[in-house]
Amino acid sequence: MTFQNTLEFARQLDAEDPLASYRNEFHFPQVNGKDVIYFTGNSLGLQPKRTKQFVDEVMDDWKNLAVEGHFYADKPWWDYHERLADGLSKVVGAKPEEISVMNTLTVNLHLLMVSFYRPTEKRYKILCEEKAFPSDQYMLQSQARFHGFNPDDAIIEVKKRKGEHSWRTEDVVNAIQENGEEIALVLIGGLNYYNGQVFDMKAITEVGKSVGAMVGWDLAHAVGNVKLELHDWGADFAAWCSYKYMNSGPGNASGIFIHENHLGKQDIPRFEGWWGTKKETRFLMLPQFDPIETADAWQLSNPPILSLAPYLASLELFEEVGMDQLIQKREKIVSYLEFVLHEIDKEVESTFEIITPEDRGCQLSVFLHGEGRELFDYLMKNGVITDWREPNVIRLAPTPFYCSFEDMYRFGQILKQGILKN
Ligand SMILES: Cc1ncc(COP(=O)(O)O)c(C=O)c1O
Repeated sequence: MTFQNTLEFARQLDAEDPLASYRNEFHFPQVNGKDVIYFTGNSLGLQPKRTKQFVDEVMDDWKNLAVEGHFYADKPWWDYHERLADGLSKVVGAKPEEISVMNTLTVNLHLLMVSFYRPTEKRYKILCEEKAFPSDQYMLQSQARFHGFNPDDAIIEVKKRKGEHSWRTEDVVNAIQENGEEIALVLIGGLNYYNGQVFDMKAITEVGKSVGAMVGWDLAHAVGNVKLELHDWGADFAAWCSYKYMNSGPGNASGIFIHENHLGKQDIPRFEGWWGTKKETRFLMLPQFDPIETADAWQLSNPPILSLAPYLASLELFEEVGMDQLIQKREKIVSYLEFVLHEIDKEVESTFEIITPEDRGCQLSVFLHGEGRELFDYLMKNGVITDWREPNVIRLAPTPFYCSFEDMYRFGQILKQGILKN
């Protein structure tokens, strides 16, 4: 499609967009009396308007039923979490029994490593990408130390080539093959938070499994954004947060995937609690743990219902629209944003460098050579909500649920004014 950098053209794209009405499903913050242009759905998704009703329902049940709400609320609390598994399984390409929702992301990755990072004297290394999200780096280092290894020795970081901004799949694959017998776990962020690259999760999972390692994915930036086929790829486990593209609210609960190959096992190493034991016998308060035959066996505590309510509201939207439609719009709107950036670049003779490779999701990371933080401040003051990463990268994520093509055009105009002004 040939794009044009005009308001009329952007409006025409909006008129043709089957998801255009979903913008009205979300609350937008206001700057200067207008809805913002929101590029930070990769950090915290906007609040769906229907979320309040889901939360109010729990508040009312708590007010009116108190403890009886566990069993007699319209959506009883004792198995409330089970309502999320079906919707989430479609988002991540899994079977519902492979899904659970609990805790938060870093906590879950640690818990999953209890089960899936079982180092031995010979096979103890963890392979990850260089400069993984800091929480993942801290997690891997502390896990290595916890098991008595030196992180400098136990962690293999796959590097980007000199002068390149993204990882090559062949380099990841080679690193796994070269160190195959020593690798206990491959654990990578499926979509890199900094450059927006989507790793070839299928190929990497396959090679990781072929050398006898466990393979897990941190899907914080991938879930609700790109096509995932966790079950078919044969990943051992994955975890994600729900506050980015899943629009479930700040710091909210994390989802986990555990491949069915690992389910229903009594003897798998795992930290356990009462919400992982079979619900039929849970309240008999028996001393013996009898694991649920789904990923719920990894649940420790009774779930935080007030956190799950917004997640359920958000999943209803995903159910209505489906990942395929979201991905179609995402590809088009990201391409349009890329086009607008190039057009503005020509007009102002600036030098933007998009460091996000072709294998991408919603996010474009843009080096603003020659521009400083003042430009970022100008954007924010003028209603463009984006974020800044050192040294001078802005990350732009035009979330398909609620961003419009007109937003992209308007952003281009504000960006141009900001550059000319500075
Ligand atoms: C890739 C990635 N991993 C891990 C985390 C940490 O998430 P949490 O604070 O929910 O543990 C984040 C948070 O943004 C992230 O982007």
